[in-house]
Amino acid sequence: MIPEHTTVAVVGGGPAGLLLARLLHLRGVDCVVLESRERAYVEQRQRAGILEQGTVDVLRAAGAGERLDREGLVHHGIELRFDRRSHRIDFPALAAGASVTVYAQTEVVKDLIDLQLAEGPPLLFGAEVVAVEGADTGRPSVRYRSDGRDRVLACEYVVGCDGFHGVVRQSVPEGGLTTYQREYPYSWLGILADVAPSCEELIYAHSPRGFALHSMRSPSVSRLYLQVPNGTDAAAWSDERIWDELDARFAVDGPWRLERGPITAKSVLPMRSFVTEPLRHGRLFLAGDAAHIVPPTGAKGLNLAAADVTVLAAAFAELHDTGSTELLDAYSDTCLRRVWRAEHFSYFMTTTLHTDPDQSPFETRLQIAQLDRIAGSPHAAAELAENYVGLPLTAPVGERAEHTD
Ligand code: APR
Ligand code: PHB
Repeated sequence: MIPEHTTVAVVGGGPAGLLLARLLHLRGVDCVVLESRERAYVEQRQRAGILEQGTVDVLRAAGAGERLDREGLVHHGIELRFDRRSHRIDFPALAAGASVTVYAQTEVVKDLIDLQLAEGPPLLFGAEVVAVEGADTGRPSVRYRSDGRDRVLACEYVVGCDGFHGVVRQSVPEGGLTTYQREYPYSWLGILADVAPSCEELIYAHSPRGFALHSMRSPSVSRLYLQVPNGTDAAAWSDERIWDELDARFAVDGPWRLERGPITAKSVLPMRSFVTEPLRHGRLFLAGDAAHIVPPTGAKGLNLAAADVTVLAAAFAELHDTGSTELLDAYSDTCLRRVWRAEHFSYFMTTTLHTDPDQSPFETRLQIAQLDRIAGSPHAAAELAENYVGLPLTAPVGERAEHTD
């Protein structure tokens, strides 16, 4: 049956919308998820793959931890490679015992979809939201198209989890939101390859030929990225050229060998930083990529989305249980403080490791000096490690600290 009314209309069935719906459901708050794409498309979309401990904890609390605990790869560090040298960042030693888990976002999405289709709340695929109306009133509604028909979902609140290009943010009247953004003069060419990873932990490489990243999806599937110019066509890069370029960028003094294998996917990703303020307009809220984007170098996108919806679900639950809007009113400030920290970290990782096409040799030497400082000082390394494994949520300055755990 097609629902006509709900408490929270969730627009978008990516990780933010699916996790929010699951958390709301567990707290007894009624909601409906509208997703424009079909299930198969959403489940095969390739995205990032690093989960902070806080994200793993909330997925477990949402009941989506079983396969994650079985198949996720726990990592206790990353490697920085620069100037033909390797340096390991040891997370437990530098960041109070912390670690991260390698588990693809597509797998998180599959687990959440399975749960939601089995237990509710309603999740409609092929339901494209075209407008949000009445966010300034007590009775908002969401207009969408499904099965070739125009439909309306009446609700009390709307949450835009519809990604960067979504319609919810765009439905806010001119002047209602302020946006901040920066685009970068390079993109990533990402590949998936059927070959065992050549390393046990991720390698972030600064090289005179540009940035490269070695990541993984499982003990038999590698995920690798190369910095490429904006506007690059992935099809213009042959498999051999990709492996040769990766080899050149990961070159290091000492033993190392990059294993090659069949490339099963190639795509180009733009790099952008973007923040919307505030994350609310009347009864409309924004979460995840709809609210903010980070370049992927710090692996923060999915984790920020998970943190947003954890805070938002707790706020709706408090409203449901007590009638108080205190947490809902604090949502934007609570999340934005951590969002801006992650924006800074992602910007730092990106600009320290990539080569800007206009970069001077002087600026390259500064990048190497910065990386050398991280390699030589536990204080500098701890700053990177703490940000990488994920900072706790804290209330805006001057208010009570509030942790997610
Ligand atoms: N109506 C309904 N659904 C929509 C609409 C619309 N008008 N527009 C977009 N969507 C859907 C998209 O099809 C997509 O499934 O919203 C979803 C948004 O999902 P994501 O882009 O994955 O964003 P989010 O859930 O915020 O996830 C956070 O973490 O790793 C990062 O950027 C990466 O996707 C990632 C993000
Ligand atoms: C990935 O595995 O896709 C990945 C890992 C780390 C990043 C970005 C992407 O910083």
